[in-house]
This record gives sequence, structure tokens and C-alpha cells, in this order.
Amino acid sequence: MIFYFTGTGNSRWVASQLASAMGDEAFDISFCLRSGKVPPVAGKRVGVVFPIHSWRAPRPVMEFLSHLELPEGMYRFAVCTCGDDAGKAMQNLARVFGVDAAWSITMPNTYVPMFSLDTDEVASSKIRAARKLIPEIARLVQDEFSGYKVHEGCFPRLKSYVLHPLFVRFVIRTRGFHVDEGCVSCGTCVQVCPLGNVSLMDGRPKWGEACLHCMACLHGCPAEVIQYGTSTRQKGRYRLARYLS
Ligand SMILES: Cc1cc2nc3c(=O)[nH]c(=O)nc-3n(C[C@H](O)[C@H](O)[C@H](O)COP(=O)(O)O)c2cc1C
Repeated sequence: MIFYFTGTGNSRWVASQLASAMGDEAFDISFCLRSGKVPPVAGKRVGVVFPIHSWRAPRPVMEFLSHLELPEGMYRFAVCTCGDDAGKAMQNLARVFGVDAAWSITMPNTYVPMFSLDTDEVASSKIRAARKLIPEIARLVQDEFSGYKVHEGCFPRLKSYVLHPLFVRFVIRTRGFHVDEGCVSCGTCVQVCPLGNVSLMDGRPKWGEACLHCMACLHGCPAEVIQYGTSTRQKGRYRLARYLS
């Protein structure tokens, strides 16, 4: 079994590729959290796939895993997707979900409030590399490999244990989200938010306080009218599907 969490689709894609390579099934953590329905964990192994958010696993992933009941002796693995580096995210994850093996997979970056999207060339080359790495990870998981193959980057402790809490405290705000003219009230933002944190009020999106800044709403908006602050108008929008054909 593989549980995954995603904002903009990268981790869902990795989880589904891994699941099909191993004949496993992938389950959406946000669906489990929102419905209260968690499938009983069975089989030889269990894995989790999630995006790195400021050098750690997103809060709902930590919460979900801390309540997950697992049979003794099951092989456990974790895969994170990140734009560049994961810091000590896996060591921090181990506080709630000790793993036998962990990997990071570099995928296109999605955090446009602070950074630009990868160029098409960079995004395509990351996906090409991921396509090669995923079957290798699947093979190692099936062999019950033990170890960490995670790109931590420089100053990983500083990033995960000092900068991460500052990011959560001072950067993650919902009040920066706003909508330009051209919103057609389609409700896609409501559907794609993994936390159910967006609702429509008078036909316009309204953000609640549970936001993670995953950018699912901003990138998922078909009219491309959701903005964050003043910088996202010039940043383009990320669509994984563009790179998969
Ligand atoms: C809030 C936020 C924080 C992020 N922080 C990091 C980071 O610390 N390091 C990194 O390499 N990528 C970072 N990224 C990029 C994502 O980890 C990467 O694009 C990931 O594949 C997105 O996965 P998803 O499409 O499943 O949501 C961040 C993205 C977001 C939205």
C-alpha cells in the first residue's frame, strides 16, 4: 500500500507510477483525512509519498502517519518529491513514521510566491530523470532495501529545524491570496484544495485558515486568475500534464 499527499500533482504521479510498477495501490491521504476513512493497512509493505514543504513533510502527512496503525514487522518506505533538496525531512518524519528506506525525487518546483517556475527544459529533464529513478526505487522496495538515498542539500539541519518553523509562522498566510477579474466561479479551487480549505462565497474563492501554501488552487485555476501577493502574475502556472505526454 502507498499513501500519498499532493498539492499540484507531482507526488500523486510518483505514487501512482510506483504503485503500478509494484502492483500496489495508492491512497490519497487528503481523502482519508477529509472522509475519516482509512483503509486497513495490509500486505508486506507500506509506503508514503509526499511533497517537501520548506524542508519537511507537510503537517497533514505527519498527523496522518502519527495515527496510522501498522502491523508489526511491515517493511516501510518513504519517498519525497522536491524542487531541489529535502533537508532533514526524512529524519523528522521518522519521529512519527520510522522507515526502513527513504528516497527523494527531484520534480518541478511549484512554490511561486518566492521562486520562479522551472523553465520547460529544466522541468522536462527532472521528469525524465524521475521516470528512470521510479522503477529503480520500485525494485529496491521489492527487495526490501534498507537505507536513505535523499538529497539533503546544504545546511539541512538549519533548513529543517530553524528555517521551517519560521516559514510556517511568518510566511504561510492566506490573506495574500486574491482573485483577478475573469473568475468564472467554476469551483476548481474548491475541488483541488487537499485540505478542503477553499469555499466559494458570492461566486468567489474564500480561503480558510488551514492553508499550507501548497499552491493547488493557484496552479489549478483554469482561468489563471488566482494570485498570491503581487509577484505571481508574471510567474506562469504549473501543469504536470504538460510534461507527461
Ligand atoms: C509551500 C512549499 C514549500 C516548498 N519547499 C520546498 C523545499 O523546501 N525544498 C524543495 O526542494 N522544494 C520545495 N518545494 C517544491 C515542492 O516540494 C515540489 O515542487 C513538489 O514536487 C510539489 O509536489 P506536489 O505537486 O505533489 O504538491 C516547495 C513547494 C511548496 C508549495
